[in-house]
Amino acid sequence: MSKILVTGGLGFIGSHTVVELQNEGFEVVIIDDLSNTTIDVLDKIISITDKKPLFEKLDLKDKPSIQQFFMKHKDIEGVIHFAASKAVGESVEKPLKYYHNNISTLIYLLEEMTANKVNNFIFSSSCTVYGQADTMPITESAPFKTAESPYGNTKQIGEEIISDASKVSNLNAIALRYFNPIGAHKTTKIGELPIGVPQNLIPYVTQTAAGMRKELSVFGGDYPTPDGTAVRDYIHVVDLAKAHTVAMKRLLKGDNKSNFEVFNIGTGKGSSVLEVIKAFEKATNKKLNYKIVERREGDITEAYADTTYAQSELKWKAELSLEDALASAWNWQETLK
Ligand code: WQD
Repeated sequence: MSKILVTGGLGFIGSHTVVELQNEGFEVVIIDDLSNTTIDVLDKIISITDKKPLFEKLDLKDKPSIQQFFMKHKDIEGVIHFAASKAVGESVEKPLKYYHNNISTLIYLLEEMTANKVNNFIFSSSCTVYGQADTMPITESAPFKTAESPYGNTKQIGEEIISDASKVSNLNAIALRYFNPIGAHKTTKIGELPIGVPQNLIPYVTQTAAGMRKELSVFGGDYPTPDGTAVRDYIHVVDLAKAHTVAMKRLLKGDNKSNFEVFNIGTGKGSSVLEVIKAFEKATNKKLNYKIVERREGDITEAYADTTYAQSELKWKAELSLEDALASAWNWQETLK
């Protein structure tokens, strides 16, 4: 079966994608610099699938090491690229770190793929490229808005780089625009490992329920939404991981309709912060302490995906519910004691 390189493969979405690739019979090579994860995630992946992925600790900012990698692994048939910095707030404080880590590495990777005739490429993009879209649900044809952060800008620039490169090479690329990935594998062996104070909603919710945080601050109760709190499309990370295996198969079979395709990967359902809290309490039978405070700078009111294109072209749709995802996030949190 085809050998696939997964960069950032020990990260939150990367590790879940490695598991699903192995479940589909792919051979997997992981590159990770371990800057935002730990090596024991590798053993956890093996304990889930009983299959050992190859692993190379490598910093994609070091171009010679990518060249050596492709000389060592000559039979790579596709690349799924997760490795990037992803903290929105940090990107505002350290823009050059984000442009260097997210853009330079993408360029080096694409250069070495082209040089080694590795043409199938899946890029980890984000609904953040849309900013506050004018129409809900959001389709792939919605325009890019001015990025709210350097992080969001690196996703917009990344897609443009890939699109331009695919026009002058044999690159066949797919960008998957994730909405809000949440949850953990049903074995609770892998999940989201937030380092420090969680910036994202669900890790903060589970840490509050675990008594690690006093209470959740709900950022804004005055949005123009039914209950005043902001709306997002929360997708189970396992559904998201499966979208990657489906997309890679599409490229390997040559079923792609153009050399650069983009797909929105969400559930198609919007949930407000208060709805998430209620669903969490129902799914876990835990009471959550929270208070509504002022809005967070840079947040948008609502975003949820139109998933018809992914359903029609990828034959993929999310199968797991918000409650499934929240219950899995809580089960994972309980293992982190
Ligand atoms: C979700 C909602 C907050 C924390 C960002 C990136 C996106 C992706 C996911 C990387 C918002 C509210 C949050 C809290 C809260 N990043 N919230 N209290 O901002 O939609 O998306 O993270 O891949 O690209 O843009 O996700 O989880 O931070 O926030 O009320 O303590 O929860 O205001 O409405 P976001 P989030």
